[in-house]
Amino acid sequence: MSYKAIMNKKNKMNGLKLLKLIDKESIKVVFFDPQYRGVLDKLSYGNEGKSRGRERSELPQMTKEIILTFINQIEKILKPNGYLFLWVDKFHLFECKDWIGNFKSIEIVDMITWDKQKIGMGYRSRRRCEYLIIIQKSPRKAKTTWNIHNIPDVWGEKINNKIHTHSKPVELQKQLILATTQEEDIVVDPASGGYSVLRACEETNRKFLGCDLKFGDLYE
Ligand SMILES: C[S@@+](CC[C@H](N)C(=O)[O-])C[C@H]1O[C@@H](n2cnc3c(N)ncnc32)[C@H](O)[C@@H]1O
Repeated sequence: MSYKAIMNKKNKMNGLKLLKLIDKESIKVVFFDPQYRGVLDKLSYGNEGKSRGRERSELPQMTKEIILTFINQIEKILKPNGYLFLWVDKFHLFECKDWIGNFKSIEIVDMITWDKQKIGMGYRSRRRCEYLIIIQKSPRKAKTTWNIHNIPDVWGEKINNKIHTHSKPVELQKQLILATTQEEDIVVDPASGGYSVLRACEETNRKFLGCDLKFGDLYE
């Protein structure tokens, strides 16, 4: 289908609706940064979270079932050898292996730790990192699907102008886009938040298809 009306825009809509509009096996790269409902549950066991969690709890949350429904749609729209870059925090790092195990045609092939270079909260250890799980649709293949070979698996990038509570590093996302797509390819982000992936696409001449339930201009 033609995505002209919604391409390269900040669309305010449900990401599942967007994913269902996209043709099967037509996309090389998807970024997915879920709004984990589980974080709030985990924080409530500590001595933190109530006040600091307020900003987070105002965002629409995603249960595990919703996240799996997103991944199911993403699996359908990815081309063979296509990549899903899935952001996870340390609370979900271990269980996400089981989530991906539910799907027949995608598997975890690598991981990058993002060092935010800024210390956050935490009782035993204080959080400073988030994780990017690199998932590939079958057939698994590194050669010819990845063109940049000097991306370290610990990436330091500080976010200065934080547009969204959960803004992700634009430079890292740019490197990943350059490594896995060609100019004019479409990159999808169904839960865009502050639209860091849109910025990465603008700066690398890629097309962007993305949306957020709460942020963006009204489309539907
Ligand atoms: C972790 S943030 C994304 C941050 C983004 N990667 C960035 O760099 O700014 C997750 C976003 O998912 C959005 N969201 C929650 N449920 C959604 C849904 N069903 N469809 C689209 N967006 C949703 C929330 O509003 C929130 O902005």
